[in-house]
Amino acid sequence: MNTAGPQQNLSDARAAKTGVCSCVVGLQWGDEGKGKIVDLLAGEHDAVVRFNGGANAGHSVVVAGSRYALHLIPSGILYPGKLAVIGNGVVVDPWKLVEEMDGLAGRGVDISGLVVSDRAHVVLPYHKQEDALREDLLNRGSDADGAGNIGTTRRGIGPAYADKCQRAGAVRMGDLFRDEALAERIGLALSIKKPMLDGLGASSDNDASALIRSCKDAARRIGAARVRDTTRLLHDTLDAGKRVLFEGANGTLLDVDHGTYPYVTGSSCVSSGVGTGTGVPAARLSRVIGVMKAYTTRVGAGPLPTELNDNTAHRIRERGREYGTTTGRPRRVGWLDLVATRYSATINGATGLALTMLDVLSGFDEVRVCTSYRVNGEQTDWFTPDALALAGAEPVWTTLPGWSDDLSGCRRRTDLPVNARKYVDFLESFIGAPAQIVSVGPGREQTMLE
Ligand code: IMP
Repeated sequence: MNTAGPQQNLSDARAAKTGVCSCVVGLQWGDEGKGKIVDLLAGEHDAVVRFNGGANAGHSVVVAGSRYALHLIPSGILYPGKLAVIGNGVVVDPWKLVEEMDGLAGRGVDISGLVVSDRAHVVLPYHKQEDALREDLLNRGSDADGAGNIGTTRRGIGPAYADKCQRAGAVRMGDLFRDEALAERIGLALSIKKPMLDGLGASSDNDASALIRSCKDAARRIGAARVRDTTRLLHDTLDAGKRVLFEGANGTLLDVDHGTYPYVTGSSCVSSGVGTGTGVPAARLSRVIGVMKAYTTRVGAGPLPTELNDNTAHRIRERGREYGTTTGRPRRVGWLDLVATRYSATINGATGLALTMLDVLSGFDEVRVCTSYRVNGEQTDWFTPDALALAGAEPVWTTLPGWSDDLSGCRRRTDLPVNARKYVDFLESFIGAPAQIVSVGPGREQTMLE
C-alpha cells in the first residue's frame, strides 16, 4: 500500500525525472564534424537521438582506424548497448535505412538498440524524383551563373517535409505496417504526384502496387518492433534517470527558419528542434555543444561571405578532404566566419563549443577570421540570415599569426603551438563560449577535452 501523502508522491515523481539531456548541433553550413563529437560524447550517454533531417546528412566517424559513414542512423550506434533513436522530426528513406542497417551489421556492429519513431515521415521514391526535377528545372530557368536552384542533395528531403505539411497522402513510418492505411495513403499521394511528375517530365511510372510491395519489403527488413512511440520511450528513459544525447543534423545556417533561406534544408537543425523533433522539451537540455570547423565550408548554392577561390581554398579543401560524405561534391571553402558562428551559438544557446579540423590550418604564415561585415557601406557584427543582404556582405578581417607544426599528435591544449592556442582563445572570446573540445584529426584519440 502506498502510505505517502500527495506532497511526497509529487516530489518522488520529480526526483525520478532526473535524466540529463545534452545536444550537439552544427554552427555552420553542415559538415562541421558533428559525427565525431557525437561519437565521443555518446560514451557517457545511454541514448543518442536524431531529431531532424534525413539521409541528406553524412556523419563520418573513425573507430579503431575504420571509417563509418552514417546518414540516417545516429552515430551512437557504434557503442554496443546504447539506444539509437530516429525521432519523429526525421524524414526516413526506408530503403536507405535498410542499406545502412545491413552495412553496419555486416561489419559486426550491434544494431539491436536502433529504434525509429512511428511518426517519422517516409521519404518515397517520388520525393527524390521531385527533388531532382525541381532542381534541374530551377537550374535551367536561372540566369547564366546557375544560381536558381538550391543545390540540394537530391535525397527528397524538401518534398518529404512539404508533404508532411500538406498532410493528405503523407506516409509515416507506422503506416508501413498497416496494410490498408498504406495502400490508401500511397493511392492518394500518387493521384497528385503522378500528374505533377508527368508534367515535370518524369520518366518513371510510379506504379502503386509495386511501390506498396517495395515499402512492405523494406518495413519487414526494418522490423515492426523497432518502429514505435519514441516520445514515450525517451520520457521513460529520462524518468529512469538516464542520459540522452540529441544529435543535430545539417547545420544552423541551413535551418529552415534561422538559416540563409531559401538556400537551406527543410528542417529545424537547431537545439530548439529537439522539442518538435522528439517530444522532449528543449528546456530540458542542460548542455548544448555547438560544433564548428576552424574554417568555413558550404555545399550547394547560397551566400558564403568568407568564400575563397584561390590556392588557399585548394589547400584547405585537399588537407581537410572537403568533399561531401553524402554526394561527393567538392565543398566551397573559406576562412572562419566568426560573425556567422557567434549568431549560431546565440540561436542555439550553446553552452560550449567543439572546434574541429584545427590541424588543417597548419602551414599558413597567417590565418584570417571574419569579425564583421560591411553591408551597403555600413559595418555590422550581427549576422543576417537574409540571403540577398548576405550576398552583398563584404567580410572585415582580423589577421592572426599562423603556425607550421603538425597538430595531429596534440592531446592537451598546452601541447598546441602558441599561435594555434591564440587562435582558439580568440574565437572563444569572440563567440563568448568555451571550446570544451578541440579536435585535431578524425580518430577518437585525436581530441583535447577541457
Ligand atoms: P537538402 O537538405 O538535400 O534539401 O539540401 C538543401 C541544402 O542543404 C543544400 O545546399 C545541401 O547541400 C545542404 N545540406 C543538406 N544537408 C547537408 C549536410 O548534412 N551537410 C552539408 N550540407 C547539407
